[in-house]
Amino acid sequence: APAHTVAYGDYGLVVVSNRLPVDFVVDADGNEGWRSSPGGLVTALEPVMREADGAWVGWAGVADREFEPFENDGISIVPVPLSNEELERYYEGFSNDTLWPLYHDVIAPPSYHREWWESYVIVNRRFAAAAAMVAARGATVWVHDYQLQLVPAMLRGLRPDLVIGFFNHIPFPPYGIYSQLPWRKQIIEGLLGADVIGFQRVADAGNFTRAVRRLFGYTTRHTVVEVPTQNGELRRVVATNFPISIDVAGFEEMAGRPEIQARAREIRAGLGNPETVMLGVDRLDYTKGIAHRLKAYGELLAQGRLDIENTVLVQVASPSRERVATYMTLRDEIELQVGRLNGDHSSISHTAIAYLHQAYPREEMVALYLAADVMLVTALRDGMNLVAKEYVACRVNNDGVLVLSEFAGASDELKQALLINPHDIEGLKDAIETAVRMPAKQRRKRMKTLRKRLRQNSVSDWAKAFLDDLTGRAAVEPG
Ligand code: G6P
Repeated sequence: APAHTVAYGDYGLVVVSNRLPVDFVVDADGNEGWRSSPGGLVTALEPVMREADGAWVGWAGVADREFEPFENDGISIVPVPLSNEELERYYEGFSNDTLWPLYHDVIAPPSYHREWWESYVIVNRRFAAAAAMVAARGATVWVHDYQLQLVPAMLRGLRPDLVIGFFNHIPFPPYGIYSQLPWRKQIIEGLLGADVIGFQRVADAGNFTRAVRRLFGYTTRHTVVEVPTQNGELRRVVATNFPISIDVAGFEEMAGRPEIQARAREIRAGLGNPETVMLGVDRLDYTKGIAHRLKAYGELLAQGRLDIENTVLVQVASPSRERVATYMTLRDEIELQVGRLNGDHSSISHTAIAYLHQAYPREEMVALYLAADVMLVTALRDGMNLVAKEYVACRVNNDGVLVLSEFAGASDELKQALLINPHDIEGLKDAIETAVRMPAKQRRKRMKTLRKRLRQNSVSDWAKAFLDDLTGRAAVEPG
């Protein structure tokens, strides 16, 4: 008789991510409920999940609360609890103050704390156990992002029958940076528990396989890593790029709605109908290059290359990770810069920057994209940057100019944007000026090409490509 028996769950497809597609919320009157959580992953996977009758394992967004599994919009929701201490150590600490800065080129210095790592291990084990409980025999489990890199190997240990995929939504850093991590070997071992490891860019997959070679000496052939197993065989793990996207048709449909177009006109009118509306939309994060963008804009105003009477910059900076010290400092710095810039350059009737430290519903974002002549994406490092893709999808009249950082994954596909290096302030200024003055014919030509390219890879194509690859390999190589 076996030493232990394995219990199988009911679901053929299980998605595991730190955040559930719904957040638990309590309103001002104390009413409790669930609200769809921000982020593209939900829209990406909703159709696939409904079709497959899938389960979603994740955290409800609040600490110290336990919830029973429930059904939401045809998807089974399996909440994983986090204590307040785990919120501090696993989420705010190791995920967002160690891994996040390390994986984004150490733009901010990562902190290394052993108690944070211990919490990360414990929480990853809890996510793996929850997924193992609900997955049917031979099911496909798709694990997402840097918060859960140990889950693939833990899950394989618990359930060797499963087909396991992992997708990394953020960059994977070059070895010289990655090697700082005191737990660099454990993380790679965790990831190698997957059958397919997906990255945004070719470069990210290359950085990962290089780290595998340097730390373990395993053979890698193109995208395949040969991982020795306990019984002396080789397991083939694929590490390659699957650039994520947005629901292109969904954004196009919203951008075509008369009430959203009316709202876009209202936004422009509210800004005084200037000749040029420029827009930045980011989580308030130090990876986004907001300060570089503001600096370039301020200098263009100071030099008279842009005129305050006919130009405005709308900067949406949505609140994010507000208890992490680096994010508090960043907020202070950005808000000081915005205040100074407005003080120096605004006139009584025209404000240089409309700064909004708020999050908006998707409809309002689409209206903003429609209202903007120039979109500024100046990230210092970004896995993909879906804002760039959303702007392009919404420009249904083929007008508008995208200024896009080459350090965002989106620049691999959106080559007809004005590509910039955000560290090069003079180059950034030239690009912004070029965008503002670009003749209509050239704007249309570029935007048409961008839109055509974007339509070739919608988020459903991304999900299908990853899952087809994952299940295809499992069919060829059982066990
Ligand atoms: C990035 C990460 C996601 C994360 C999101 C929002 O896009 O790749 O995993 O969910 O930021 O951050 P938050 O910490 O609020 O979940």
